[in-house]
Amino acid sequence: MKRLLSTSVVLGTVATVALAQSNVPQEVRARQGLMQNFAFSLSTLGNMARGNIEYDAGLAQAAADRLVTLSSIHQNGYWPDGTSAEEIEASRALPAIWESKDDFMSGFDDLHQAATAMAEVAGDGQQAVGGQMRSLGQACGGCHEDYRISDD
Ligand code: HEC
Repeated sequence: MKRLLSTSVVLGTVATVALAQSNVPQEVRARQGLMQNFAFSLSTLGNMARGNIEYDAGLAQAAADRLVTLSSIHQNGYWPDGTSAEEIEASRALPAIWESKDDFMSGFDDLHQAATAMAEVAGDGQQAVGGQMRSLGQACGGCHEDYRISDD
């Protein structure tokens, strides 16, 4: 009897955790996943520029090309009303997004341009990658500054 009880307590906990995760809207999880892929590609390039990992033309080109593709993904649908950080605990999206939707969306065009400039030179060596890092990083940071709750 005791054993049965503890089993049901464990199952109950598992169910609660699963429920908490599924409470985060799919749109929020999807856009955060997209951002994680931005970050993955950016850090590959940044680490090569800083010499933390050895420059590899193929890997640099892949990371830059990926950013070009990912930054052109249609944003329509990722940012529905009611999904700001004020409404969804797991989100850091500032309500300002919904007050200035056009300006916010233009940030993805800026990122696309910076990624394209990076992709044009990513195969040309560590220095070339380094030369484009600042404007690429700014395309991320500029939007975060205005539209994302800061890390600290
Ligand atoms: C046009 C605006 C915009 C641009 C451009 C942008 N981001 Fe974001 N980013 C956001 C917003 C808004 C959030 C918060 C989303 C949420 O939590 O709902 C976010 C969240 C993130 C997160 C956290 C994701 C998570 O798991 O919670 C990372 C990492 C990130 N961005 C990296 C990047 C990188 C790297 C770039 C550039 C290559 C970039 N972002 C470009 C707006 C932007």
